[in-house]
Amino acid sequence: MKKTILNILLISVVTAFSVKVVSAQENLIAHKADSVLKMMTLDEKIGQLNQYNDDWTATGPVTIDSTKAIQIKEGKVGSLLNCKGTSRIRRWQEIAMQSRLKIPLIFGQDVIHGYKTTFPIPLAESCSWDLEAIELSARIAATEASAAGLNWTFAPMVDIARDPRWGRVMEGAGEDTYLGSKIAYARVKGFQGKKLGEVNSVMACAKHFAAYGAAIGGRDYNSVDISDRLLWETYLPPFKAAADANVATFMNSFNDINGVPSTGNKYLQRDILKGKWKFDGFVVSDWGSVGEMINHGTAKNGYEAALSAITAGCDMDMESRSYTKNLAQLVADGKVPVNLIDESVFRILKKKFELGLFDDPYKFCNAEREKRELNNPDHPAAAREMARKSIVLLKNENNLLPLSDKIKTIAFIGPLVKAMNQNKGSWDVDVPGVDSSYIVSQWEGLKHRVGNKTKLLYAKGCDIKGNNKEGFAEAVNIAKQADVVILSIGEEREMTGEAKSRSNINIPGVQEELLKALLATGKKVVVLINAGRPLVFNYTAGNAQAILYTWWLGSEAGDAIADVLFGDYNPSARLSISFPLSVGQIPIYYSHFNTGRPALTDDTRFYTSSYNDLSIYPRYEFGYGLGYSAFKYSNLQMSKKKIHHNEQIEVSVTITNTGKYDGEETVQLYLRDLVGSIARPVEELKDFKKVKLQAGQSKTISFTIDSEKLSFYNQQLQWLAEPGEFELMIGASSRDIRMKETFELAD
Ligand code: GLC
Repeated sequence: MKKTILNILLISVVTAFSVKVVSAQENLIAHKADSVLKMMTLDEKIGQLNQYNDDWTATGPVTIDSTKAIQIKEGKVGSLLNCKGTSRIRRWQEIAMQSRLKIPLIFGQDVIHGYKTTFPIPLAESCSWDLEAIELSARIAATEASAAGLNWTFAPMVDIARDPRWGRVMEGAGEDTYLGSKIAYARVKGFQGKKLGEVNSVMACAKHFAAYGAAIGGRDYNSVDISDRLLWETYLPPFKAAADANVATFMNSFNDINGVPSTGNKYLQRDILKGKWKFDGFVVSDWGSVGEMINHGTAKNGYEAALSAITAGCDMDMESRSYTKNLAQLVADGKVPVNLIDESVFRILKKKFELGLFDDPYKFCNAEREKRELNNPDHPAAAREMARKSIVLLKNENNLLPLSDKIKTIAFIGPLVKAMNQNKGSWDVDVPGVDSSYIVSQWEGLKHRVGNKTKLLYAKGCDIKGNNKEGFAEAVNIAKQADVVILSIGEEREMTGEAKSRSNINIPGVQEELLKALLATGKKVVVLINAGRPLVFNYTAGNAQAILYTWWLGSEAGDAIADVLFGDYNPSARLSISFPLSVGQIPIYYSHFNTGRPALTDDTRFYTSSYNDLSIYPRYEFGYGLGYSAFKYSNLQMSKKKIHHNEQIEVSVTITNTGKYDGEETVQLYLRDLVGSIARPVEELKDFKKVKLQAGQSKTISFTIDSEKLSFYNQQLQWLAEPGEFELMIGASSRDIRMKETFELAD
C-alpha cells in the first residue's frame, strides 16, 4: 500500500483544491489527499462516500447485506459504524487493505457518554456546568474508544432542546444556547484531544445539523418550523462553537426545516457550514436520511435523493445506499459533475490522512492498549466525580440531607435500587466481552458507604411500569423499621433516547403511590429520581422531604449517589433545562419574550399570556439547584454604567458561603435588552462562574460585559448590538435573581 501511494506522492504534481489551508501540515495532508484522489476511479470515489453498519448492533432500520466484505475489497465502502473491538475492526481493515488502492476504512460509533467507563448522560453532565469536567469525560471516552479500534465518535449532540417529550433531550446540554455552546466546545476538545492523529484522539461529530431538537410536539423525526432568525440565534450557535473547536465532522439531521430536509439543505451545509463558517471537514448523513428524502416527499426515488444530498453538501451516506446505487448514473447523466464528488472524497481522504490511517491502517488496533485503557483505574474515579457533579438537589426540607453517619437503619426501596445497566442510561456502548459487573449499583454504593455501621433494609416495592402493588406491604414494613427511607424511582433507561418521544412524562406506574404509602408510615423519605429527561412528579415534589435528581449517572452511579446522600460531596449541580409542572405547560423555557400581556406573577394573570388552570412558573427553572450550603450575594460593582461599542464593563460581586459545609456555587449572569428593534428575551444567560467556598468564606468574582454579549440577530439577520438600556441580573438561577443593575450602550 505505502509503496503505491508513496510513488505517486513523489511524482505527483499537486494542484491543491481551493481549501482553507493554514499550515504546512494541512498543506501536506491536502497534497496527499489530492494525489490519492487523482488515482481513483469513479466507483472508488463513490465508495468513499458510502458508510455501512457492521451488523454488530443497529442504531437504525437494518438492511441485510451479505456483500459488505466484497464491496470493501472492491473499494466501494469508506467507513463502517457500530463495529467494536480491535480484533473485529482489524479484520475489516485487513479486507480494505486488499482493495486496489488500499484506502483505509474509518470506524464510527456513538460514544456519547463513555465507552466502557460510562459517564452520566450528557444532559446530566450539562447540569454540572463544569466545562473542565465535561471535557475530561469526553477525553476519557475518546481514550477508551480509540483503544478499542474506533477513530470517530458521533458526538457531541449539540441540539438545543426545550421539549422534554422528545426522548433525545437526554443526549444534549439542555435549553440554553450560551451554556450549550460552551459545552459543545468542551466536548469537541475532549473527544479530539490535542490534535487528530494522536492515538488517543477520535474525530468528533457535531450533530444533528440542524434544529433537530425543535421537532414539533417533541415528536422525534418531526418537522421543524422556525424562522431563520430563531435558527441563527438559538439553534446554530452550539454548532458554530463546535466548528470553532475544529470539529472534524458534522452529521445532518432527520428533520426538515420549514419543509427542506436537512440532508438536502444546501443553505445549511454549503452556504452556512462550508461557506460562511469555512468548515473543511466532512458531513455525514444520519442513518438512512439520504434515502428518507423520498418519505419527506422531496425526492421521487433514490436517484433524486442522492442528487439532492450530494448537491446540498452531504458528503457521506450512512446506510441508505443511495450514493452507491445512484451517483455513477447521476454523473453519467450529467446531473452531478465529478468535481462535486471529488470535493466530498477530498474532505474524507484528508481526515483519513490526518488520523494517520494511511501510514498505519491498524494504528488504533492494538489489543494490548485496548486491554490497558479499558481497565484504566483512573477512569472510574473520573466518572464518579462527574456523576457527583451532575446530581441536582431539588428539595431538602429541614435539611434532612446530608444523612448522618449515626443513622442506625436505612430502608432503601424501589425498582432501581439494585438495577445495574439501567444506571448507564440511553446511548451507552455495549462493549464486546464486558459485562455489567463493573457498574456500581445504587445498593452497592450505599453498602460501600455505610459498611457495617448502618443496617440496610431492601424492598423493591413495585416495578417501574405497571399497576402491581403487591410489593407495597413489604416496603411499608421495612420502612417502619428504619430511621429514614430512601426511595429510588423513575423511568426505565429505554424510555429516553432516539425514537422515545412520550406524550406522558409523569413518573410511570405506581411508583408515586408507593411513595404515598411510605410517607403514611410517618417516616421521612429521600427520593432519588432516575431519568433521561425532566419528568412531571408533582406528588413527589409536594410531599417528599428531600429529592435528588440522579438522571442516569453511569458506571459509578451508586458511589456518587452515596457521596451526596452523606455529604461527602456537597451537591452543586444546576438544571440546564426547565422542568414543567405538566406536559400541557410545554414548551416552557426561561429566555422567552415578554409578550404584550406578560404574566408577571401567579396572582396577576387574567388577560395575560398564561394558562388559567396552571401557575406561570415551571416546577423547577433553568439554573435551579440546591446544596447543603447557602450563599449570599453582595457588593455588586460595575466599572461603568454607560459604554460604547468598543468598550467593556467590569462587573464584580462578592459571594459568601453562609452555610456550615464547604460548597460550590454557580453564579449566573443574565442580561436583558430592554428595548430592541425586535422583542428581546426577558433574560439570557451570558456568563457564569463556578466558585468553591469553604464554610464562611467570601470571594469576589468578576465578569466582563462587551458588545458581543449584547448582540443578537435582528430582522435582517445582522448580528449586532443596538444602543439602549440593558438590565444586568446576577443570580443563583434564572428565577432566583440576587442582584440587579441597569446600564446603557451608547450610540
Ligand atoms: C441514529 C442517530 C444518530 C446516530 C446514528 C448512528 O439514527 O440519529 O444520532 O449517530 O444513527 O448510530
